[in-house]
Amino acid sequence: MNLFVIGRGGREHSMIMKLAESDKADRIYAAPGNGGIGDAAECVDIDELDIDGLIDFARKKEVDLTIVGPETPLLTGIADRFREAGLAIFAPEKNAALIEGSKRYAKIFMEENGIPTAAYASFTDAGGAKSYIKKQGAPIVVKADGLAAGKGVIVAQTVDEAMKAVDDILVGKAFSGAGKSVVIEECLSGEEFSLMAFVHGANVFPMIPARDHKRAYDQDQGPNTGGMGAYAPAKDISRKTLAFAAENVLQKAADGMVAAGRPFTGILYAGLIMTDDGPKVIEFNARFGDPETQVVLPLLENDLLQVFLDVLDGKDPSLQWKKQSCAGVVLASKGYPGSYNKGVALPEMQLDASSFVVHAGTRKTEHGIVSDGGRVLLAGAKGADLSEAAECAYNWLDKNVNSEEFFYRKDIGKG
Ligand code: AMP
Ligand code: GLY
Repeated sequence: MNLFVIGRGGREHSMIMKLAESDKADRIYAAPGNGGIGDAAECVDIDELDIDGLIDFARKKEVDLTIVGPETPLLTGIADRFREAGLAIFAPEKNAALIEGSKRYAKIFMEENGIPTAAYASFTDAGGAKSYIKKQGAPIVVKADGLAAGKGVIVAQTVDEAMKAVDDILVGKAFSGAGKSVVIEECLSGEEFSLMAFVHGANVFPMIPARDHKRAYDQDQGPNTGGMGAYAPAKDISRKTLAFAAENVLQKAADGMVAAGRPFTGILYAGLIMTDDGPKVIEFNARFGDPETQVVLPLLENDLLQVFLDVLDGKDPSLQWKKQSCAGVVLASKGYPGSYNKGVALPEMQLDASSFVVHAGTRKTEHGIVSDGGRVLLAGAKGADLSEAAECAYNWLDKNVNSEEFFYRKDIGKG
């Protein structure tokens, strides 16, 4: 089969590495891909949002299945357009992807379907939002309604900070398209975890729980980023909690989407906080998480392509997981998530059998592969347990990275 993966990050490289293991995979194409994806797939320079260009390419290359990484093409309607064109695609249609695209919609949907989540109110006017904040007090969470590339959430420790966030979102132009309304949410406390599932209509096949580390520096300090590292499974989350979340979050969401006339096909991602009252949703995504995917897929025993095909066919893919742990540490450009240099040569990478590299912000040039983004690559490793996996990932990072141009967190998977 010919496969086509849309996106350019670590998540897409990870999917492609796994898809390339399938006996059924003939050619794999990626648009636009990155500096590492070229080893396992043919990269084509078509933007993720150039849907006409992507459809033309898929037709010309007789692509049998397209898989979408990032959220922006989903919300632009890539799945709708591919299906109209008679092309198979593993991705939710625009109206189903709204569960990620509008935080306000997601909250209303959760309320209607009895999915546990933080108490909230939503506003389009700053005055209403501010009096609600005054009444509730701090800490409190302020979220821009639409997509904001992970920057639309402010966990405010004081009422003043929350007020400023409301002004930034509704009055200022901080989040242009994302800022037409604001969701104000109860601040939950507890350990976070990410639970993803393969979904087709009412069929839900959960993966193992993972944990992402969003803050730039050790001990979860510093600004939020796209994710500085992850590990799987998150063993502190009990089987009982996972069963509860599978039934009361993922299954209810899939059923609710069917009932709302927007059946979901693709990866449904729930970001959860383990509160004293059980797990509660802080966000839904309509796609694989990044960097969770990079540590979850290496533990999947199944042929990923066969899983996609089975799920699309209404069959149970009977997911099997290795009894190991996987850790991934992101190597970032110095200065990220602020401004940073691009075009820096990558460090040497000598890997042993249980470690791997997933490229994110990299680009192939005549002089080799160079950095091309804030998150450059992920150093990953599997191990018998999390500490072995983390040690292995850190071994090669510590050995190979001695450039001032890059940095990485030192505490991923270390308790
Ligand atoms: P998001 O962009 O929705 O993933 O949110 C970014 C981060 O904000 C999450 O990873 C949480 O750490 C935090 N967050 C979001 N919602 C809440 C909430 N209701 N209570 C506490 N923290 C939250
Ligand atoms: N790791 C969180 C996300 O992909 O949105």
